[in-house]
Amino acid sequence: MTHISERDLQLPDAVIGKLLRIAAEDKNIVSLGPGEPDFITPKPILDYGKKIIGKTTHYSAPNGKVELREAIAQKLKKENKINADADDIIVTTGSQEGIFAALLSTIDPTEQILIQDPGYLGYIPIIDLVEGVPIGVPCMEENNFELQPEAINAAIDKKKTKVLLINTPENPTGNVLSKKTMEAIAAIALEHDLYIFSDEAYEDLVYDKKHISFGSLNGMQDHVVTFHTFSKSYAMAGFRMGYMHGPSEFIKAASMPHHYMTLSPPHLSQWMALKALSLPKRYRDDMKNEYDRRRRYIVPRLNELGLRTHMPDGAFYTFSQITDITQKNSCDFAKDLLNKAKVAVVPGSEFGKHGEGFIRCSYAAKLPLIKEAMERIENYLK
Ligand SMILES: Cc1ncc(COP(=O)(O)O)c(C=O)c1O
Repeated sequence: MTHISERDLQLPDAVIGKLLRIAAEDKNIVSLGPGEPDFITPKPILDYGKKIIGKTTHYSAPNGKVELREAIAQKLKKENKINADADDIIVTTGSQEGIFAALLSTIDPTEQILIQDPGYLGYIPIIDLVEGVPIGVPCMEENNFELQPEAINAAIDKKKTKVLLINTPENPTGNVLSKKTMEAIAAIALEHDLYIFSDEAYEDLVYDKKHISFGSLNGMQDHVVTFHTFSKSYAMAGFRMGYMHGPSEFIKAASMPHHYMTLSPPHLSQWMALKALSLPKRYRDDMKNEYDRRRRYIVPRLNELGLRTHMPDGAFYTFSQITDITQKNSCDFAKDLLNKAKVAVVPGSEFGKHGEGFIRCSYAAKLPLIKEAMERIENYLK
């Protein structure tokens, strides 16, 4: 007999998963679907992992190795301008686990978490799992998909809202919040005594602007929890390494669900992460410059095809409007591209109600593949 919980049965079955499975199985498909770097982890990190593997067969400290937490604290101070202490850091199994642990220690059933819509599709299922209520705050194309402070104010329920979960640079739109907007959002968080959960997964992939951490803004130390990852900056997605930083009391509380979910973060990956932090910045910049080259190619090309596309300021995604060229919804359009043009993209509806009418293309794919995909879409549209 199989018994599956209601909680599990209610979880959304993401279309993206099916699309990516089909794309991975059919070698004729060019995939602009993936949400992870196409690069391989830099060689010095891999070499170090090979060298040290035999010493990492045991659990580590639940919140992560002290050497790593100290190096992370230095990085947060230097790069993010966050006044971090190693004791206020938890090394997590990717940032996804960190966000989940943080929600578990903040949210009681029926309490609300405000998220960007369109926004990263990994949030709603974990909010559902903690029995919270995700409230999408519309981020409209005419504002370059930037989260608007007035829209947050309109969505806040004084009793129920506990957290603003904000992602900048943003997946899927590539929007990077301006300092002015961030300061206005920070003022709202202070006024309503809310936490800002700041997901900075793409912090190293900002092209023409500068990445700013909410935790660096004046007076926000007690209100901000930041989530970081080695998945994107160092192309280490498979090593499942992330970390979170926040106020001492909060980190103490979040340590509990983190510990009971994972016992400890992966030991080998922690040494590799420590190595990653010791590398010159050029390792990250080289990847960023290549994404930038692709971004400058793909955006004009999509516009040429009638898929209206803003130049994204960060991450490695384009978010293109499709309603000028098709009557189809984004899911049917993406299915058509998959079946007829043999190109995998992600329908915008996967990212929330306000993602309908758009498709996401990832440029974490080699330039010749992107060129081929654009040609195929062009032929299909003809
Ligand atoms: C915005 C955002 N946050 C968090 C994650 C989770 O990344 P990881 O768990 O690999 O750190 C992703 C992955 O795509 C993401 O796009």
